[in-house]
Amino acid sequence: MDAFVIEGGRRLKGTVRVAGSKNAALPAMAAVLAAEGPVTLLDVPNLSDIDNMARLLAELGVKIERDLTTSTMKMQVVDEGLSTARYDIVRTMRASICVLGPMLAKRGKAVASMPGGCAIGDRPIDLHLRGLRALGAEINLEGGNVVATAKRLRGARIFLGGPFGSTVLGTANVLSAAVLAEGTTVIEQAACEPEVADLANLLIAMGAHISGAGTPRITIEGVSKLRGVEHRIIADRIEAGTLLCAAAITNGDVTVENCPIDAMAAVIDRLEAVGVNIDPNGSSDPMRATVNVTCARRLDPITVTTQPHPGFPTDLQAQIMALLTLADGNSIITEKVFPERFLHVAELSRMGAEMYRQGPTVMVIGVKKLVGAPVMASDLRASAGLVVAALAARGTTTINRVYHLDRGYDKLEQRLNALGASIERINAPGA
Ligand code: EPU
Repeated sequence: MDAFVIEGGRRLKGTVRVAGSKNAALPAMAAVLAAEGPVTLLDVPNLSDIDNMARLLAELGVKIERDLTTSTMKMQVVDEGLSTARYDIVRTMRASICVLGPMLAKRGKAVASMPGGCAIGDRPIDLHLRGLRALGAEINLEGGNVVATAKRLRGARIFLGGPFGSTVLGTANVLSAAVLAEGTTVIEQAACEPEVADLANLLIAMGAHISGAGTPRITIEGVSKLRGVEHRIIADRIEAGTLLCAAAITNGDVTVENCPIDAMAAVIDRLEAVGVNIDPNGSSDPMRATVNVTCARRLDPITVTTQPHPGFPTDLQAQIMALLTLADGNSIITEKVFPERFLHVAELSRMGAEMYRQGPTVMVIGVKKLVGAPVMASDLRASAGLVVAALAARGTTTINRVYHLDRGYDKLEQRLNALGASIERINAPGA
């Protein structure tokens, strides 16, 4: 298994470009199952999660041509015979579940293995199933599989809120099914994430009638078919936020291109409160801005609460925690989306961070320095938090199991090295 060996203490300087969004690309790829013609997606990031989704779609009868040099993926359904998303693939990537809605709507039947547990929490799919049932699907659990059938889905008014607010992939699933349902669907407490709005824009380009995407109420007038289109995936706000944290913790001076600042208000607000300077340079497109980030002084402590969008994203909680370990005072981080998502706390402590956790809240007591140590990546964003910390730590940090990181960041080490970091990818057998 690959590991990163990071020599900390180097100031990041230079220009880096944000890739297309993983979490927008995955449901967009799944939506191809609902279309008749070829769909070409631009700015598809080169990540193992994307490879897994492509593998799954190929099994479900989608022909895929991918050009890694231009980040383009052309897809077309050529065979509707096999409609089962197998456990082998679903267990490696929970986003596989978003094939359920579009496949059910188009084929009248969809089977997907029930996703199991996950390092960041329970992650149930009850809201996905509630939404599809409301559209008239019959749903049974057979041998660990969700088996969904419906002759033609019917529009309905659906409330998608759960104990932790809205659901991103649940909204994507129901939206990608309702576009082909008969009549009107209204999704209340829909997820407002920009990835959902991007999916809606793709579906609209395919011929769907959708209004309100990006707000808590989405209205869909069903159509009988969807055509093929070309669509450019939005830039990845989580990768962008990770790069901002990396620049800040090294007191760097970094220009981040293709930065979706319009989708990052809470992140920018919190980073500015820490003392990070973020200058959008008068960019004309706020979803693809060029921002300059500098951070020249000691960091101020802050409070951060993760929330559904437009609140501070849970997917940046580990990275901002890493930054706050070096703040000049005590910070409070509360996780309101995945209250158990704290596996990185123990690993950061191995690097000299001082933290106390009580339930969904962690007090981060700023220390003067972090020190390099061997640490273990447990999930994608926890790994990103460890990389951010290691960039500023004195000495050498070895991060084992970076395959977690490769799920969501394309060659992160090469891009950070181009900014002056010292990260070596090694093969660490058995780590
Ligand atoms: N929830 C339920 N029932 C459901 C679905 C969700 O109770 O049926 C709960 C979850 O347990 C959680 C909350 O609702 O407490 C929000 O979960 P959500 O469904 O929104 O998460 P998701 O759609 O499965 C996506 C991202 C995650 C990101 C979350 C929250 C993708 C592929 N995944 O997951 O991204 O953390 O939204 O923003 O879009 C990552 O990229 O590292 C990642 C984990």
